[in-house]
Amino acid sequence: MIPKRVKLVEVGPRDGLQNEKTPIDAATKIALIDLLSASGLSAIEAGAFVSPKWVPQMADTDKVMAGIKRKPGVSYPVLVPNLQGLDAAMKADVSEIAIFGAASESFSRKNINCSIAESLERFRPVAAKAIAEGMKVRGYISCVLGCPYEGAVAVSAVADVAAQLRAMGCYEVSLGDTIGIGTPAKARAMVEAVAAVVPRERLAVHFHDTWGQALANILACLEAGIATVDSAVAGLGGCPYAKGASGNVASEDVIYMLDGLGIETGVDFAVLAAAGRFISDKLGRPPGSKAAQAQAARLEKAGPSA
Ligand code: HMG
Ligand code: MG
Repeated sequence: MIPKRVKLVEVGPRDGLQNEKTPIDAATKIALIDLLSASGLSAIEAGAFVSPKWVPQMADTDKVMAGIKRKPGVSYPVLVPNLQGLDAAMKADVSEIAIFGAASESFSRKNINCSIAESLERFRPVAAKAIAEGMKVRGYISCVLGCPYEGAVAVSAVADVAAQLRAMGCYEVSLGDTIGIGTPAKARAMVEAVAAVVPRERLAVHFHDTWGQALANILACLEAGIATVDSAVAGLGGCPYAKGASGNVASEDVIYMLDGLGIETGVDFAVLAAAGRFISDKLGRPPGSKAAQAQAARLEKAGPSA
C-alpha cells in the first residue's frame, strides 16, 4: 500500500517560525521560502493571517507574500482563522488558504478562542468565500493523537471534524499530532478511522517530533496509503498554544527516508539541506535534522575538494 510518490508540504516558514523567540525579519523569511522553492517542493506554507496579538511572529505575512518569487507549480498556502484573515489573504493575492481546527475542545479554546462547533461555524463562510474566489482550501485538525490539556483524544472526534472540513470543500485535511505524542500503531488506527469518512488520498499527516516518533509514525501512515506529509526544514517548529511541543519532523529527514524507500518526491535533498542551514544560521543553532547534520559532517570530513 506504500505510495510510489509522496508530496511534502513544507510548513517551516509558518509552523516553524511562528514559535521562534528570535525575531525573524520578512527579508529572511522571503529568502528562506525562495531557497525552499528551489529544492523542488511543490507546497510551502508561507505564513498566517492571524491576530498579531496572538502570534506576533506572523504579523508580516503580507510583506512575505509580496516579496517571494512565486515559482510556477508551487503553492504558497497561508493560515486563515476567520473572514478578517481571508480578506488579508485576498489582498496579498494568496491562492491557497488553510483553516485550522482541533479535535480537542480545550486546545480549540486556547488556540483560536472558541469551541470546536463555533470554529466550524466560523470556517464555513471562510471556505465558501475562498472557494468562490477561486482559492484552494486546506483544513487542519490539531491534537489528533492527544491534547496538552485533556490527554487522550477519541479518534471519533478527529473523524467528525475531518468529515466536516471535507464537507466545507477542503481539498485536503491535515491530521496534526500537535504535541508529537503518538506512536505508530495509534497513528495508523487514527488514520484508518478518519479514512472511513474522508478518502485517504485527501488526507495528509502532520507530525511534531516531541517524543522522537515522527518518522516511525509517518512510515506507519505511508503503509496505510497516505501520500502527503507535512514537515519543516531543519525541524523548525512548535506551537505557541502547546507548551513543550517541539519542532515538526525535519523535512530533510523525511526526504532521506523517502529517498531510501525509493519513493519519488521531486525534492533535492542537498538543496533542501542548504535551505535548512541558511535558516539555522540565522537562528544561531545547528539544523534540527539528523540527516542534515550527518551530511554536513560527511562534507566536512571529505574536505573542500569533495
Ligand atoms: P479573538 O481575540 O477571539 O478574536 O481571537 P476577535 O475576533 O475578538 O478579535 C480580537 C482582535 O484580533 C481584534 O483586534 C481583531 O481585529 C483582531 P482589536 O480590535 O483588539 O485591535 N483579529 C485579527 N487581526 C488580524 N488578522 C486576523 C484577525 N482576527 C481578529 N485574522 C483569533 C480569535 C482566531 C483571531 C485568534 O485566536 C488567533 O489569531 N489565533 C491564531 C492562533 C494561531 O495562529 N496558532 C498557531 C497556528 S495553529 C498550529 O500551529 C497547529 C497546526 O500546525 C497543526 C498542528 O500541529 O496541530 C496547524
Ligand atoms: Mg503544527
